[in-house]
Amino acid sequence: MVFRANDNRYKAMKYRRCGKSGLLLPEISLGLWHNFGDADKYETGRETVLNAFDAGLTHFDIANNYGPPHGSAETIFGRILKENLLPYRNEIVIATKAGFRMWPGPYGDWGSRKYLFASLDASLKRMGLDYVDIFYHHRPDPNTPVEETMSALADIVRRGKALYVGISNYSAEESAQAIPVLRSYGVPCLIHQAKYSMLNRTIENGLLDVLEKEGTGCICFSPLAQGLLTGRYLDGSIPEDSRAFQDRFLKVSSITPELLKTLNALNDIAQENGRTLAALAILWILRDARNTSVLLGASSSAQLSENLSALAQEPLSKDELEKIENVLCKE
Ligand SMILES: NC(=O)c1ccc[n+]([C@@H]2O[C@H](COP(=O)([O-])OP(=O)(O)OC[C@H]3O[C@@H](n4cnc5c(N)ncnc54)[C@H](OP(=O)(O)O)[C@@H]3O)[C@@H](O)[C@H]2O)c1
Repeated sequence: MVFRANDNRYKAMKYRRCGKSGLLLPEISLGLWHNFGDADKYETGRETVLNAFDAGLTHFDIANNYGPPHGSAETIFGRILKENLLPYRNEIVIATKAGFRMWPGPYGDWGSRKYLFASLDASLKRMGLDYVDIFYHHRPDPNTPVEETMSALADIVRRGKALYVGISNYSAEESAQAIPVLRSYGVPCLIHQAKYSMLNRTIENGLLDVLEKEGTGCICFSPLAQGLLTGRYLDGSIPEDSRAFQDRFLKVSSITPELLKTLNALNDIAQENGRTLAALAILWILRDARNTSVLLGASSSAQLSENLSALAQEPLSKDELEKIENVLCKE
């Protein structure tokens, strides 16, 4: 059946300007790191992406190595696009990345010009696209001159393979070095993709200040701490269909009694105000205008709907923010 998008899709979503650019991003974006591999159910992924788009969520984030196997999330997203969303291509912001090991040998990893060009070409092929909207260098490379990586990003924009470029997982110092180098080649750094949640506040120690000064947006990944900041684990059990059950990226051993105490205290604050813990976690990130978008994952369309409903709520009050701070300070 031909997909026809919801005519009201732009009514519920709010958009924020990405740094000092012309690009607006939705306050919530969807990442395809998990749940879009070959072993995952295509229909579930398709439904999640289409419902996201129907809710005004216009930004989808992928990387060359998402799957498993590597590349499969791009292939699957390409299929969803081709079968449903291509007529809406101009309403969608698609991001991909390169920076982690993708293929064997010395040219399938890190930040050389050789790797970045080859990887982006392969990503475009898998997705069936002529260009992506955002291409990221996925992590800093200590052994490649930053000038080589940044000039490769600038040339990728010049050749029309990506409209914008960004960096991910660069520290405050690395960002302060790389962003001006990229600008010296005539291309601004649109966005930084950084880990940020109530359980990981590293970017508050300098990175957000650098990005604000440089006019670069910030998109926050793992905002729900991979599911910890949801109702999933509050009673200490590990559901069989949860990420923690796989004990790979989210380790069961990390779910300690102390962490459960913190999560339940945060959940109490959420409940006092009729919110879910996930909504609290999302609105807490959005309290800072420097955060352009909350980049979350979802293993079902129902999870995504729950998370999107946070945007219909009042922002967190001063009282809620103080209570949250008290809990996090005790962590
Ligand atoms: N640049 C980087 O280096 C980097 C690194 C990591 C991620 N990212 C990006 O960030 C995106 C999001 O990362 P993430 O998946 O770790 O984000 P997250 O939003 O912190 O975690 C998402 C997971 O939490 C669980 N969840 C979400 N909503 C829920 C709800 N309402 N109730 C119960 N459980 C819920 C689901 O896991 P289960 O249902 O499976 O338990 C879901 O897959 C990735 O897809 C990727 O695009 C980037």
